[in-house]
Amino acid sequence: MRQFEIKTVVSQVPMTELDPERKALVESARRATYRSYAPYSKFSVGAAVLLDNGVTVSGSNQENAAFPSGLCAERTACFYAHSRYPDARFTRIAVAARGTDGQYLSHPISPCGACRQALAEYETLAGAPVEVILAGADDVYIIGSLHHLLPLTFDEIE
Ligand code: THU
Repeated sequence: MRQFEIKTVVSQVPMTELDPERKALVESARRATYRSYAPYSKFSVGAAVLLDNGVTVSGSNQENAAFPSGLCAERTACFYAHSRYPDARFTRIAVAARGTDGQYLSHPISPCGACRQALAEYETLAGAPVEVILAGADDVYIIGSLHHLLPLTFDEIE
């Protein structure tokens, strides 16, 4: 038997110490929370993808009366980004959320399993790590690669 360990390193950084480029991406994800359509959960999520062509594409969660038909912010953003700019590579993604009280969450939220799977494939397409920034009210978590969020990703095209 052989055992191996899979490690995910998370850097917790105060918003005040964030460099301007990352801060701008977090602000873009935060702005997207205000375009969320979440009449059922009242939980507003925004995601912003920075592409290697310099364009930032953002998206928000879109709910539906038939609950499973809605979509998370992360997949809204990544599907839109790749359908609008199919030749661009993802470089970074930021995620922010506001709770039912309308305030930014003190602890960052982390993408759901389905979003991790969808996002990881765009990292494979990019051929380089795509950084993830999960934004709380005062601190962000930075993870160096989408695959670190989903170890042993199902990845047929790799
Ligand atoms: N949601 C996201 O958009 N992203 C996540 O990472 C977690 C959950 C959405 C789905 C639903 O509209 C609402 O948040 C409550 O689960």
